[in-house]
Amino acid sequence: MEQTAKQIGIWVFSGTGNTEKCAKALQDALTEQGVSANLHTIADGSETAPERDLVICYPVYGFNMPRILKAFCRHQLGGGNVWFLKTSGEPLHLNDNSSAQMIRILKKKGYAIKGEFHYIMPYNMVFRHTDELASLMWRTAQERIPDAANRIAEGTETPIAAPLSAKLVSALCRIEHWFYPKNGRLFRIDEKKCVHCLSCVKRCPTKNITYSDGRFRFGKACIGCARCSFNCPTGAIRIGLIDFMRVNGPYDFSRDPASARIGRYCRKAYERYFEEED
Ligand SMILES: Cc1cc2nc3c(=O)[nH]c(=O)nc-3n(C[C@H](O)[C@H](O)[C@H](O)COP(=O)(O)O)c2cc1C
Repeated sequence: MEQTAKQIGIWVFSGTGNTEKCAKALQDALTEQGVSANLHTIADGSETAPERDLVICYPVYGFNMPRILKAFCRHQLGGGNVWFLKTSGEPLHLNDNSSAQMIRILKKKGYAIKGEFHYIMPYNMVFRHTDELASLMWRTAQERIPDAANRIAEGTETPIAAPLSAKLVSALCRIEHWFYPKNGRLFRIDEKKCVHCLSCVKRCPTKNITYSDGRFRFGKACIGCARCSFNCPTGAIRIGLIDFMRVNGPYDFSRDPASARIGRYCRKAYERYFEEED
C-alpha cells in the first residue's frame, strides 16, 4: 500500500450542480476517513492548487472534459497524486477516455495518476431524465462515494483504461471545444418569456453573457456548460444549434428511487450500472 494522502484538494468544475453534489459527498466521506480535504471551485481554469494531491472533478462533455479543465491542469505545480471524479448522463464506455487530455498534461508535470471515479447523474443536456431516475442516480452515487474515499485515503491505484472506440470517439468529439464558443454566439433570448432576472448573466462561469441598455449580448467564451439555460426560471434561453437538446429546470432528487423506471435509451447500460457491485 502506498503513502496515505493526508491533505487533499478537491477541485470542482460543475455546470449545473451534479458534479458539485458528488464532490461535496466525497469531501464528507474523506473527512469521515480522517483525511483533510479542501473543496475548491474551478472558476476559469487559472487557479493553482496549494495541495500536492488533487481530486479533479468534472462533468463529461462530448466524451471529453470541459475545455477549461485543460487550462486548470496547465496551471498546476506538479509532483503529487491525482484522482478524477466525473459525472455523465449515460453509463457508456464511450465516456471512458474523457480524462485523456488532462492525464497527458499532468503526467508531464510529474503527477502520478491514481484513478478515476465515474458516477451517472441526470442529463443536463440531450433529454430530461425523470426525477425518480435522477434520485436513483444520486442515491447510487452516495452509496459508492465512500468506497472512492477509502481508495483515496489508502492510496489504492485503479488503472484508467478506455476501449479503442472511446479513444476514437473522444478524439473526434474534441471538435466540440471549438464548437461551443462559436455556438455561444448564436444563443438568443425569447423576449416573450424573459423576466430580466439576470440569473444567466450572474451564473455564467466565463462571463460570456452581458446585459446593457435592456439587451443581452453573448460573447465568444461559451464552454457549453448549460448553466444559463438550465437555470433560467422561464426557459427563455435558446442555445443555438443544440437547442433541440436543451434541458431546463433543476431535478428533484428527493423522489422515491424505488419507483424509478429506466427508459429504452441505453437501457442495458443503465441496468448494468445500477446493478454493479461497489
Ligand atoms: C455540452 C454537454 C455535453 C455533454 N456530453 C455528454 C456526454 O458526452 N456523455 C454523457 O454521458 N453526458 C454528457 N453530458 C451530460 C453531463 O455530463 C451530465 O449531465 C453531468 O452530470 C452534468 O454535470 P454538472 O451538473 O456538474 O454540470 C453533457 C452535458 C453537456 C452540457
